[in-house]
Amino acid sequence: MSRIGVIGGSGLYKIKGSTIKSKKKVTTPFGSPSDEYRIVDIGKTEVVFLPRHGAQHNIPPHMINYRANLWGLKKLKVERIISVSAVGGIKKGLNPGDIVIADQIIDMTRTRKSTFYDGKEGVVHIDFSEPYCPEMRRILLTAGKIVRIPLKGRGTYIAVEGPRLETASEIRAFGCLGADVVGMTGMPEASLARELEICYSTILVVANYAAGATKNKLTVAEVMAAMKASTEKIKTLLKETFRIIPEERKCSCKDALKEARV
Ligand code: HPA
Repeated sequence: MSRIGVIGGSGLYKIKGSTIKSKKKVTTPFGSPSDEYRIVDIGKTEVVFLPRHGAQHNIPPHMINYRANLWGLKKLKVERIISVSAVGGIKKGLNPGDIVIADQIIDMTRTRKSTFYDGKEGVVHIDFSEPYCPEMRRILLTAGKIVRIPLKGRGTYIAVEGPRLETASEIRAFGCLGADVVGMTGMPEASLARELEICYSTILVVANYAAGATKNKLTVAEVMAAMKASTEKIKTLLKETFRIIPEERKCSCKDALKEARV
């Protein structure tokens, strides 16, 4: 079985109930990943887990070395990634605790190294019309049905630079653009994975109402508490996903570089 990578965001620094078989320190041409990669067995699947912000949550979203993180996963032979992230809910009807399997992205990040192709390796334009692996999305949604965890099957994720939270007007504008949820780390993770021909999908946990939706001040404590409350569900969903995932990839992610070079 090929390896699956899990990148855990705020509040998810390990997969609940799993034991770490080994830790792997990986070096990359782009510098150091956020932490050592944890090799864990979940059911019969070997999973490579990386805490995105470091195990002590000491790396803010705009300082994460996304290229090193993704390169390291590729080096460890990961073919598919499931990212787990906390998001703010923009769309009416989305409430803290809801889980969204997003299908689209709007990228508002500004300062990040967002490609492996700076010219030396040639000029590459990957197709990103469908930013998340459609096969992985289907598998996640099927797993959710089997274990009866309600999932929102679609959603547009807007990636912001952070680390500050948004203004109420920004959130209103993002809503007009078609964004359903907002987060700080989904890009360039998704496009870097595509450049490495790795399937990438995401489980988004709505941790708070985005700015302006309530009179209350947004707090980090609220985000962490929502993530903590979801860990059991996330683990169940991941475990079932790993159980039903087919060995062979049938999507086009594995051929992303074909017809992408100038
Ligand atoms: N905005 C941006 N990122 C987030 C939020 C938010 O409201 N909640 C969790 N991550």
